[in-house]
Amino acid sequence: MRELSGKVAVVTGAASGIGRAMALRFAAEGMTLMLADVDHGGLAQTAALAAREAEVVARQAKVLTQITDVSDASAVRHLANRCFGEFGAVHVLCNNAGVFQGGHMWTRDEEDFAWLFGVNVWGVLHGIHEFVPRMIEQDTEGHIVNTVSTAGLFVKPGSGGYAATKYAALAASLALAQDLAATGARLRVSALCPGAVRTRIGDSDRSRPASLVTTPTPDEVDSRESISRAAEGGIDPSEVADLVVRGIHEERFLLLTDPKYADRLRRQTESLLTGDLPD
Ligand SMILES: NC(=O)c1ccc[n+]([C@@H]2O[C@H](COP(=O)([O-])OP(=O)(O)OC[C@H]3O[C@@H](n4cnc5c(N)ncnc54)[C@H](O)[C@@H]3O)[C@@H](O)[C@H]2O)c1
Repeated sequence: MRELSGKVAVVTGAASGIGRAMALRFAAEGMTLMLADVDHGGLAQTAALAAREAEVVARQAKVLTQITDVSDASAVRHLANRCFGEFGAVHVLCNNAGVFQGGHMWTRDEEDFAWLFGVNVWGVLHGIHEFVPRMIEQDTEGHIVNTVSTAGLFVKPGSGGYAATKYAALAASLALAQDLAATGARLRVSALCPGAVRTRIGDSDRSRPASLVTTPTPDEVDSRESISRAAEGGIDPSEVADLVVRGIHEERFLLLTDPKYADRLRRQTESLLTGDLPD
């Protein structure tokens, strides 16, 4: 999709990090925005920043916000109803909200996996289920961006639960893209796979529902500290937002923030094909 000005974008997880950066970038393109998150204060801040961003480039921005827990199907349905009700169409859907939890596979319990899969996998599936049929029906160009991660391409020790959700999100994105292509729909899909990005991902617990809280274990704390350090040394979220806009313009499926990840994926695949455990 070449022209974004005047089109409608929905971004989940828009109160912080990559979601906020995408919202600001879309505002600068002159898009109308529906921003969703569970963090009320952060969402209001993003909306104010996006309105200012649009002003700078002398665009008329309409920015709406909606408190939405993406793991809750009815909340995402409500978000979609409001978007189509207010704007009549959605052209760019970013299923971006996500949370991190680490720890060895055997120390994490059901609540941990329920939380991770609820946000990182069900959040994407609910977005697809509630928005895509109406986006197909409106019969315009459109693009769905699912925020995956390099953790959806290769696995590191100590973050298996997170990787499992991101592999699932990548598979869902591939399947969606293939189903849309097979049915001749005018929608395209990107799987956004950033490496480390300077966001609050290491502090994901701030949005964890009280009903799904568990006891930290040393391996989980180590993993959380390690992702926080990696994020601090990561790229700026605005670089990811630029990559997303390029990906939409060029209709690219896999969006990598660094070409070295392609080599790493190749090495992992070669290693797997020999029957070895990848490094
Ligand atoms: N930061 C990185 O290094 C990195 C790397 C690869 C992928 N990602 C992915 O990027 C996406 C965005 O994360 P980020 O790095 O900007 O982190 P972040 O913590 O800064 O932002 C995540 C946002 O998601 C929101 N959120 C959490 N649970 C939610 C829920 N149930 N419903 C709606 N919103 C919810 C949070 O309130 C927050 O605003 C995630 O999917 C994450 O897995 C991040």
